[in-house]
Amino acid sequence: MPKKIAPSPAVLILAAGMGKRMRSPLPKVLHEIGGSPLLFHILRKVREVAPEALIAIVVGHGREQVEAAVRGAPEFASMKISFVFQEEQKGTGHAARCAIDSPWGKAVVEAKAPVLVLPGDLPLLTTELLSQMLAPLGRADTMRLLTCELADPTGYGRIVRRGNSGPVLRIVEQKDATEREKAIREVGASIYLFQAAFLRFALQRLNNKNAQGEYYLTDLVAAAAGSRKRIDVLRWRTAEDLRGVNDPWELAAAGRILNERCVRTLSLAGVKIIDPVTTWIDCSVRIEEGAVIYPGAILRGRTTIGKGVVIGPRVFLTDVLVGPGAQIKTGTVAEASEIGAQAQVGPYAHLRPESVVGERAKIGNFVELKKTRIGEQTSVAHLSYLGDAEVGKNVNIGCGFVTCNFDGRIIDGQRKHRTVIEDDVFMGSDCQTVAPIRIGRGAYVASGSTVTRDVEPDALAIARSRQENKPGLARRLRGR
Ligand code: UD1
Ligand code: CA
Repeated sequence: MPKKIAPSPAVLILAAGMGKRMRSPLPKVLHEIGGSPLLFHILRKVREVAPEALIAIVVGHGREQVEAAVRGAPEFASMKISFVFQEEQKGTGHAARCAIDSPWGKAVVEAKAPVLVLPGDLPLLTTELLSQMLAPLGRADTMRLLTCELADPTGYGRIVRRGNSGPVLRIVEQKDATEREKAIREVGASIYLFQAAFLRFALQRLNNKNAQGEYYLTDLVAAAAGSRKRIDVLRWRTAEDLRGVNDPWELAAAGRILNERCVRTLSLAGVKIIDPVTTWIDCSVRIEEGAVIYPGAILRGRTTIGKGVVIGPRVFLTDVLVGPGAQIKTGTVAEASEIGAQAQVGPYAHLRPESVVGERAKIGNFVELKKTRIGEQTSVAHLSYLGDAEVGKNVNIGCGFVTCNFDGRIIDGQRKHRTVIEDDVFMGSDCQTVAPIRIGRGAYVASGSTVTRDVEPDALAIARSRQENKPGLARRLRGR
């Protein structure tokens, strides 16, 4: 006889609550840690353990925003996600009921798929935890319940057992608990695996007779305990994985744990992070071994750091590609830019979007680039602004150079003019070029010049008034 294949599990994520305690108009599950919304962290883990699962996300508060965020993220495009609308938030049990009554629920019940329920506000769930939850239920099991001992169980549903350590009888919410029950340290984390038929049956029979007048999903535990079948309990040892986010303080705490996880992984992979506590790195950031990261660095988004790069103190990079061996010095801020191998940037440089710094180029202190490409081995060492510019190789830009790229007018929406500085140009200190303009290959521009016309290759441009010295005049003026 062919072996019966167990139906693959379905996943139900509860994310309709408004998260009143966050005191923010943003739906709770869209608050970010490690550079992405809480909900995304959960979806990523689900994708790892159950890429094929039929997923329902219950949305209500800020529904359009939550849906748009998930639909707009290419990383989830391959997942089978449906959204279920819970119009009024009448509790976690009601949210699950909305889902089980939806077309998703009907498909799931029909397929006899076990249903993994997850709250949308536990961003630190691990794949290890999810795969243990997803192990097939035994024949006699109606559900699997995840519990955990907490030093401080305040706010969580307490697990009530027969005697003190007998079978689970029910879960009592903080607000409904007696003093004795409040002393119980074993809690439920809103993570369950249900047999689909039991889930539907029990949800249809829920009531809201409790302190909050809500339909509690937790009451399904008493329903299961009262049936002739078993509850399989998974006692989880790592309380950290179950840290929930209900208010901004818990958001920060979860963010710190996530950061520590990312930083630890990188550190064990050979990245030298001097101070894990003050270094903030999104999990999406890639860093090759041998890189050194100094305290206070913040590395975000799609940032990629090559081998042997040194990131100095308080450097802030968002979506920046840093080539091997580059040095990014103290206080540098860069966004959506590229820095070539062996280049040096900073201290205190500012790379605005679409800037490219070539290999072995040098961008020094108080230099701002915007939509500017700097060629190999070119040096812009001090106090300069280059916007909408193309600078060739081996160019030397002296101190205090400015590309005047904006003429104050708006013509056809094109407000900024381009500056081209070809290879081997020498730009003296304190010069400005008024765009649109081209400085030809190998040209020299004398210090203090304001250049308004193109300079042909190998020419010397000098655009400043001629010096006159008046002998003795200083002494005479002083005498007055
Ligand atoms: C819930 C549990 C509690 C558990 C805790 C663990 C219940 C009744 N309580 O409490 O036992 O210890 O989680 O984290 O289940 N939601 C909806 N629709 C609603 C209400 C809530 O979708 O009508 C969603 C929320 O968006 C949230 C999740 O369900 O993602 C949990 O809701 P929340 O209000 O945070 O429940 P807790 O008070 O934390
Ligand atoms: Ca919660």
